[in-house]
Amino acid sequence: MSQMIKIFDTTLRDGEQSPGCSMNPKEKLIMARQLAKLGVDTIEAGFPASSPGDFDSVQQIGQAVEGPMIVSLCRTDDADIQAGINALQGAKNWGIHTFIATSDLHLKVKLDIDRKTAVKKAIRAIEQARKYTDNVEFSAEDATRSDPAFLVEIFSAAVKAGATILNVPDTVGYITPQEFAELVRRLRNEVTDADKVLFSVHCHNDLGLAAANSLAAVAVGAQQIECTVNGIGERAGNASLEELVMAFKVRNSYFDISTNIDTAQIYPTSRLLTKLTGTMVQSNKAIVGANAFAHESGIHQAGVIKNALTYEIMKPESIGLTFNQLVLGKHSGRAALKKRIISLGYDVSKEELQKIFEKFKQLADKKKVVYDEDLEVLIMEIRFAGEEKYELLSVNVTSGTETIPTATVVMKVDQEEKPAQASLGDGPVDAALNTIRQIVNIPCVLTSFVVKAITGGTDAQGVVSISIEWEGIKATGRGSHTDIVIASAYAFVNALNRLELLKKSHHLLEETEELSGI
Ligand code: KIV
Ligand code: ZN
Repeated sequence: MSQMIKIFDTTLRDGEQSPGCSMNPKEKLIMARQLAKLGVDTIEAGFPASSPGDFDSVQQIGQAVEGPMIVSLCRTDDADIQAGINALQGAKNWGIHTFIATSDLHLKVKLDIDRKTAVKKAIRAIEQARKYTDNVEFSAEDATRSDPAFLVEIFSAAVKAGATILNVPDTVGYITPQEFAELVRRLRNEVTDADKVLFSVHCHNDLGLAAANSLAAVAVGAQQIECTVNGIGERAGNASLEELVMAFKVRNSYFDISTNIDTAQIYPTSRLLTKLTGTMVQSNKAIVGANAFAHESGIHQAGVIKNALTYEIMKPESIGLTFNQLVLGKHSGRAALKKRIISLGYDVSKEELQKIFEKFKQLADKKKVVYDEDLEVLIMEIRFAGEEKYELLSVNVTSGTETIPTATVVMKVDQEEKPAQASLGDGPVDAALNTIRQIVNIPCVLTSFVVKAITGGTDAQGVVSISIEWEGIKATGRGSHTDIVIASAYAFVNALNRLELLKKSHHLLEETEELSGI
């Protein structure tokens, strides 16, 4: 019988705290529901002490999402632990994840405490959490640059205090697979009562070794892996869920390990995350990148035509990537549309389906074929319509070889329609963005602007990704339309709405204690 490894998903915490990946509470709830459908064992839903927004979001997820255990991240301070408990108390299946740094570097430079104090703080936090829940995970932050003997000491104390999971994070993505295996093996052998708890690993990808390190730890007895969808996370990201799960599946005869993941949900989950965050995966990303199942060279194509196994080690369908034969266009009906939406991994209500159908018909009038990517954009537009601070009502531009580009824009701010404004620009996009900036009156700087056609042909929808920065806060937005200028305007407004969200949590963070090291 193969060994079962638990998948602890931290997309909504470690992943969400990385640049360009922030989500609002509604987006986090949608993602959490999809993670439950994917079959993860644990969802780390956020860091409740960091902001009221994160608190609410963790609370909502705890109440609404069934299946996985929902976990709050907390430092070892009383207030943090209490916030984590308050957010989840009453949820069906929940736990607390508390952490403190253990490397001398972090203890000295970041926390200004000695090892003895760190142990005391860990014990106190675990005992406090155990009064409310039987599920308490303890992490030794920067474990891989910590003195292993001290790790044995603090982990032994954590078990005695009631921790049920010990997590070994490679916080800065520094270790190599062999070294990590040695460390985890030593901890399992030397920590007192190690057999009474579960060992977990949490690897970052700074040297591109996060998946390899996680697999090496599993080989020596780690029973839980912490990871994120698309590998998002601090800096170079976390170990990527899809890489680990598919490694176990594809190389089952080698690993003999199983997980509770429904691999057919991997691709829809990855797509959903890119839609919610506006951050795309690189095209050569393992498993979920656009090129992961694409064959360019003649030799490869010839091989794949004869037998896909020549150059494919897994079937696209095994991750839920289907190549649909049925074309959706203006003659398609509601039933075909619904079927396609479900096959893309979305659950939509009757009302949502009706609204999507209406928008679909409008788009199908402009485009001959409505592709899956077009449809996903429509679904997102419907789901998030009318809930944000800024809404673009209309944008009209004049441009050409003999005229100065001018844009006229009408927007709603806080649900109130503002008078139309106009301004000039170096080009039509510049004019549109200048006008929007004028209306919202936020002097943000545009730091990146990327246009991509999501489908082929001159009627393709263009997807524009925009990054902006205002007083050190960075936000990313995404918009799509068959007209690039309109797509750009949507992307800019989307980025401004995300900036508003970040501004709120940023101000609250400044008022609370400084967030250290996560
Ligand atoms: O990378 C890290 O050390 C973390 C901990 C909070 C587990 O994210
Ligand atoms: Zn981390």
